[in-house]
Amino acid sequence: MTVSSAPGKVYLFGEHAVVYGEPAVPCAIERRATVTVDPRDDDVVRVVAEDLSLNGFAVEYSGSTDEHPDVDVPTPLVEAAMGYVDAAVDQARDAADAPDAGFDITVESEIPLGAGLGSSAAVVVAGIDAATRALDVELSPREIADRAYQAEHEVQDGQASRADTFASAMGGAVRVEGDDCQPIDAPSLPFVVGFDGGSGDTGKLVAGVRALRDRYDFAAQTVETIGDIVREGEALLADADAEAGADPDEELLESLGELMNFNHGLLEALGVSSRSLDSLVWAARSGDAYGAKLTGAGGGGCIVALDPTPETETALQYTPGCEDVFRAELATTGVRAEDGEVRDE
Ligand code: PMV
Repeated sequence: MTVSSAPGKVYLFGEHAVVYGEPAVPCAIERRATVTVDPRDDDVVRVVAEDLSLNGFAVEYSGSTDEHPDVDVPTPLVEAAMGYVDAAVDQARDAADAPDAGFDITVESEIPLGAGLGSSAAVVVAGIDAATRALDVELSPREIADRAYQAEHEVQDGQASRADTFASAMGGAVRVEGDDCQPIDAPSLPFVVGFDGGSGDTGKLVAGVRALRDRYDFAAQTVETIGDIVREGEALLADADAEAGADPDEELLESLGELMNFNHGLLEALGVSSRSLDSLVWAARSGDAYGAKLTGAGGGGCIVALDPTPETETALQYTPGCEDVFRAELATTGVRAEDGEVRDE
């Protein structure tokens, strides 16, 4: 049996614009998806999914993962969860050159599904790691990131960037610009996450931004301006030259917060915020956060704010429409074995 976990993420800056080649800075957070894999003697893949912020369910199919079985749960729900597990299985079979490998797979996740925290990327990353190790193949975190990207790309019809999968596989703060992905040094930023209980349709939201950008020059410029914000933010992090994991100083938090506010305004202009996300953003700001913005595709789901004090959490707790609030520590480790196996560096 192999067990792997991988973290979710928040976007400090740059979602959506990253799809068009602008840089983005996602940060892995200590909310993990855990995938347990048992190889089977036949070519059957059996998946039990629990805690995916949806009702647990079990499905079983044999051979090709192309055909989905008939199960008594709403189709979008099965597609959302199963599409990513299928794609991870396909990548693991390919990496191990074992096209007929069968597995019993259990997926558990602390990351709300489709809420901008990279739940699918974490499941795919942990799934590829656990399934390849089950077949005696060990991939590096970069190789896992790459395969997880191929998997997401396939499931999301070519709309996905490398941001979620790279952050989840590598851990820490990273910068992604097209195919260029690098870890970056960042202090321990005091993230507070607010969740409105909903989720957004990433494909639809990305398509909406693409249509606006094709139609209006000013929308294309808005996307480029988000890129400028990211570059400004990266320069601040680099200048701060803080040791990874050290507490950031107030001046840095103030400047990053200002850029987050700016970034949120531009995402709102691109039509990807929502009434509830805006309301959480404003609650965080009035709770004295240094800055707040939606994270991920938008439409519903989560916001991220910067505040080392408990005030933002308290303000969000008392905000109508806020389902959950939590402090999210930077996950310095990305994908990792949870079964005692030590990865070769
Ligand atoms: O909501 P999430 O976690 O799937 O993030 C989507 C981020 C986008 O930039 C909108 C799309 C992408 O793949 O980068």
